[in-house]
Amino acid sequence: MSIKSNLSYLNYIKESGISAFLQNLPNIRYKEQEKNHKISQINISDINSLKELENYINQSNICLLKNTASKTVFADGNPSSKIMLIGEAPGAEEDKIGKPFVGLAGKLLNKMLASINLDRNNVYITNIIPWRPPNNRTPNSEEILLCLPFIQKHIEIIKPKLIILLGGTASKAILSSTHGIMRMRGKWYEYNNLNLNNPIPVRAIYHPAFLLRVANKKREAWEDLKEIQKKLHAINEKI
Ligand code: URA
Repeated sequence: MSIKSNLSYLNYIKESGISAFLQNLPNIRYKEQEKNHKISQINISDINSLKELENYINQSNICLLKNTASKTVFADGNPSSKIMLIGEAPGAEEDKIGKPFVGLAGKLLNKMLASINLDRNNVYITNIIPWRPPNNRTPNSEEILLCLPFIQKHIEIIKPKLIILLGGTASKAILSSTHGIMRMRGKWYEYNNLNLNNPIPVRAIYHPAFLLRVANKKREAWEDLKEIQKKLHAINEKI
């Protein structure tokens, strides 16, 4: 079939209302998971501590991003904090140092936190993906799906009272949404899963790297931060 007739065949299929194709991929992925299971020898559902989770992620071969990254970036900050921040994936600086948000975006994040009297001693910070994607590209849906059990377990262990999602990738992944960050910011959501006793309030805010590029969004970011501060006061009064 020529390229042209291929294209008209594809258009014909699209016009008939078919928007997805089945591929061999799930079988391949299943084999990868089996391989990974043998290496780590434990099931993620049996993990109860941060140390175990960090070891598990360090040993995991589930996601190919690990092959091009130089470090597994696990987390930073205070594990006893009530506030958990979740970003997208490490960048070049994070990949070098092994901690999340230590580059330029991290510096702005520190300032955002300071504006509501917080710092890294009273928040806990991690990412959806623990390995740097090549050239800082956005992680794709398959990579996000493969790494999702890590962050779900991470939240279950930390049991934060409030989750702050930094940017669209983290917001879509945690809130299972297809909306972009512009639509998701400015509102409160709840995160829950079967292993949590209570739903956790969630706020999706602009990623600091985005604010470095689009400075006129800083006012909206400030409004979200003020709402977060109010919620924290309410949470502290309840505890
Ligand atoms: N951007 C992120 O989302 N995470 C980091 O750790 C650094 C930059």
